[in-house]
Amino acid sequence: MIREIVRMGDPRLQQVAREVEPEMFNTPELDALLQDMRETMRAQSGVGIAAPQIGVPLRVLVFGAEQSERYPEAPPIPYTELINPVLTPLDETMEEAWEGCLSLPGLLGIVPRYTRMRYAGFDPQGRYVVRDVEGFHARVVQHECDHLDGVLYPTRMRDMSRFGFADVLSPYLDS
Ligand code: NI
Repeated sequence: MIREIVRMGDPRLQQVAREVEPEMFNTPELDALLQDMRETMRAQSGVGIAAPQIGVPLRVLVFGAEQSERYPEAPPIPYTELINPVLTPLDETMEEAWEGCLSLPGLLGIVPRYTRMRYAGFDPQGRYVVRDVEGFHARVVQHECDHLDGVLYPTRMRDMSRFGFADVLSPYLDS
């Protein structure tokens, strides 16, 4: 079911989400949540969504894109369901790029993120997963994990002059 996306200003986006308890793995309840997240993300052509964005305060992410309409230059990201994720930067290198969020519709900003990242967590059956990623994939995972800690991307920005509406910014996005 496509769910309503919680937008910035709603206190549910500022809370720290709870870990999924072991007994919730491999249950119809978790599968239904993941299905709603996947359908809601795809309905908006998003590349990722976190459970708090549909009002569910659990540490659950869905992300992935074959070819993103929102980020046409970006390489594909395999579709992934990730529970109780833990992020570790692989080195100190950071990079800046334009970023948007389904909870801030129409807006984009330049956000610094770690370039290379290891993420670990669990799949919906409770199996441990770990993956090393970089670039756009690493950016998406950092953005989605921030939602689990009540952090939205504008608070990560260093230069608020590079924050605005996508349709206004579009002539300037390469700069
Ligand atoms: Ni977001």
